[in-house]
Amino acid sequence: MKILLLGAGGLLGRYLSREFSGHDLTALKHQQADITNTGQLDELFAQSWDVVINAAAVCDFDACEENPDETAKVNRDAPLDLARRCATQGSLFVQYSSDYVFDGDEDRLLTEADEPRPLSVYGHQKADLEKLIPEICPRNLIVRVSWLYGLDGKTFMSRMPDLLANQTSLRTAAGKKGCCLYAADGAYWTRQLVESGRNGLFNLVNPGETSWEEFARTALAQMSFLGLAPACKSIVETPYTQLGPGWSKRPRYSCLSTEKIASLFPPGPRPWREALGEFLTEWKSVAASRTV
Ligand SMILES: NC(=O)c1ccc[n+]([C@@H]2O[C@H](COP(=O)([O-])OP(=O)(O)OC[C@H]3O[C@@H](n4cnc5c(N)ncnc54)[C@H](OP(=O)(O)O)[C@@H]3O)[C@@H](O)[C@H]2O)c1
Repeated sequence: MKILLLGAGGLLGRYLSREFSGHDLTALKHQQADITNTGQLDELFAQSWDVVINAAAVCDFDACEENPDETAKVNRDAPLDLARRCATQGSLFVQYSSDYVFDGDEDRLLTEADEPRPLSVYGHQKADLEKLIPEICPRNLIVRVSWLYGLDGKTFMSRMPDLLANQTSLRTAAGKKGCCLYAADGAYWTRQLVESGRNGLFNLVNPGETSWEEFARTALAQMSFLGLAPACKSIVETPYTQLGPGWSKRPRYSCLSTEKIASLFPPGPRPWREALGEFLTEWKSVAASRTV
């Protein structure tokens, strides 16, 4: 398949670049292709693509709250432009969404059939994509992910092994329930969905309810088990509701059901503790190679 990957330098983009390397892949980082630059996109779409994967986004929650119009250019307008271009070519368009499309008021697993009710600007931008992309581009795959982490990622969970290795005390927001996704698994399951010709909306996480504090405690225990000698001796939890007004716009409970993807590819994505163990093993081997 001839595949165009945009946002290839980001956390998920880097794992997608590796995962799709067996295909005829053109993987472009932000500096190589800006998805808001229509001139650049005209040039790229002078070729035809079987699949276009958009991993580019502004994921900074606060930046979206502070600059809704500016961030919408990347998070909403550009993906819709890409969807139109894919519709014209008849290509499959792959876009990532987020658990932040939900308000988090109910303590139950959220499915693809549940109605989005976003609280935040970022959540609204993603909810708009979930609604509008299928109307624009018949061949679409919308992959709804949550709490992504992986090597060299900027997210709190991505930085967890470094923080636990180097700090004697780790501060974390607490009280939010959700699901996490190791970016390697995000890329692997994206490839399964693309290669099997699936269309539509799919939740994709490593199943099992967790929280930031539980993730931290589990990472600490797993690092000790792997002989990684973390410096961290205590995890200090602050209820997320006490962290400022912006935090109330994050869903309190946003665990995603993976039943749909698991029914197509049993048993589906592996549980989060197993995926975290794999990430720590990857982190350990890279940390060792970087000190050589
Ligand atoms: N991270 C999470 O926890 C999370 C949770 C739910 C959903 N998602 C979604 O998952 C997808 C992948 O997220 P991620 O964690 O991989 O994000 P990431 O690490 O922040 O990567 C995003 C990439 O997009 C690039 N980018 C920003 N503006 C661009 C533009 N105008 N044109 C081209 N590239 C641009 C960024 O480049 P610069 O760094 O140079 O700006 C960065 O390389 C996104 O759709 C995100 O909304 C992520």
